[in-house]
Amino acid sequence: MPDIVVGRDFKDLEKFEKIGTLRVGKHIVGTGEDAHLTSPILIDALRPHCMIVCGKRGGGKSYTLGVLVEELKKVRKDIRKNLCSLIIDTQGIFWTMKYPNEDDRDLLKKWGLEPMGIDVKVYVPFGQKELFEKAGVNFDGTFSVSASQLAPDDWLYVFGIGMNDPLGILLERVITRMKKSKDSFSIDDIINEIHTEEGFDNEKLALENRFIAAKMWGIFGETKMPTILESEKSTVLDVSMTPSNVRTLLVSIVLKKVLEDRIKARRQEEMAKVENEDIKRVPLCWVIIDEAHNFVPNVGKVASSDILLRIVKEGRQPGVSTIFATQRPNKLHPDVIAQSDLIISHRLTAKSDIEALKAIMQTYMLFDIEKYLNDLPRMKGVALVLDDNSERLYKIQVRPRQSWHAGSSPLAIDRKEF
Ligand SMILES: Nc1ncnc2c1ncn2[C@@H]1O[C@H](COP(=O)(O)OP(=O)(O)O)[C@@H](O)[C@H]1O
Ligand SMILES: [Mg+2]
Repeated sequence: MPDIVVGRDFKDLEKFEKIGTLRVGKHIVGTGEDAHLTSPILIDALRPHCMIVCGKRGGGKSYTLGVLVEELKKVRKDIRKNLCSLIIDTQGIFWTMKYPNEDDRDLLKKWGLEPMGIDVKVYVPFGQKELFEKAGVNFDGTFSVSASQLAPDDWLYVFGIGMNDPLGILLERVITRMKKSKDSFSIDDIINEIHTEEGFDNEKLALENRFIAAKMWGIFGETKMPTILESEKSTVLDVSMTPSNVRTLLVSIVLKKVLEDRIKARRQEEMAKVENEDIKRVPLCWVIIDEAHNFVPNVGKVASSDILLRIVKEGRQPGVSTIFATQRPNKLHPDVIAQSDLIISHRLTAKSDIEALKAIMQTYMLFDIEKYLNDLPRMKGVALVLDDNSERLYKIQVRPRQSWHAGSSPLAIDRKEF
């Protein structure tokens, strides 16, 4: 059976054939009892993409994300060295990728694969170090941001304070003044500064309390972020124990830097091309976000909305790809849906979510997506792949994971008894 390459246009297909692709699974042909696996399905990894992985709970989204991360680590060395990935881990499930999936050795064998741990570099918030250690999580380092990195608006956002509230006015005054006079300051410095303000009696204490609470989030310290754009590196930022509004803020801080650095690198690469020079390349980055509807929602705006929308609209030029996983594609910002060129949809039931998928690619109106989704065999890891590049759609079985997937639902009964 010839391999099927998705996410690659005809010209690239002629030129590169199946070089630089991610072997995610196999094509399912036939329905019901007749359904069987045929050609391997390969996803293009030479060009940037905007991908969505969707499906209802337990359908295999996080598992599929893991397969994609594994595959990014397996592409040919000369291509792989120009790639890296960043995983925003909202459930604390990606660190287990360091270990081989021994449980599925037999299943993997059927696919010609073996259990294999993957070299992911896991970082946890500085102030939660002990918590993660106690939980037995194997991490490589910590990350933190400086309180001085945040703008007054960021603070208003994370505290949920309006800019016209007395508390908001006080906050804005204090932070703006500090930013003018110092390059770097801590939360304790902010608290001290609050008390130098004239008036605002009760507000001062109330604001102090907010900042004391912020210290507990465990993300503030000196600015210490791991390098993300490093050849072949897969960085996992574990934000599973970070409050959701703080998560979005962190994502915006990290991604602004990734995008800026890639834009700079792209400029240098173009210059070098013109002048026929060899330069050290900065890798293209795949940004992977689980539960993405919380980071670029359809309704309302969160701290990461702007940067993520910028990346989906402009990211292909500087080479930043996105893979957004969500249970509810309908809850993703419509611009993300409109910009997506590749979708892996596990089973979906809500009509509004199916409609959202239909809206992605008008041409697919020719196909009845709902029917295709209903036709999917009720097995773990089956999905529909919608490819905007070839304007085609495939039923696939995602391959088993070589690395350990920690995301399965816990059993209420002791496994050993069975
Ligand atoms: N491609 C697959 N092959 C084998 N098992 C799978 C596959 N995809 C998912 N599963 C099984 O289904 C479970 C739920 O998948 P998961 O990705 O955690 O769901 P969710 O969509 O909620 O993120 C996994 O723990 C795994 O056991
Ligand atoms: Mg999941």
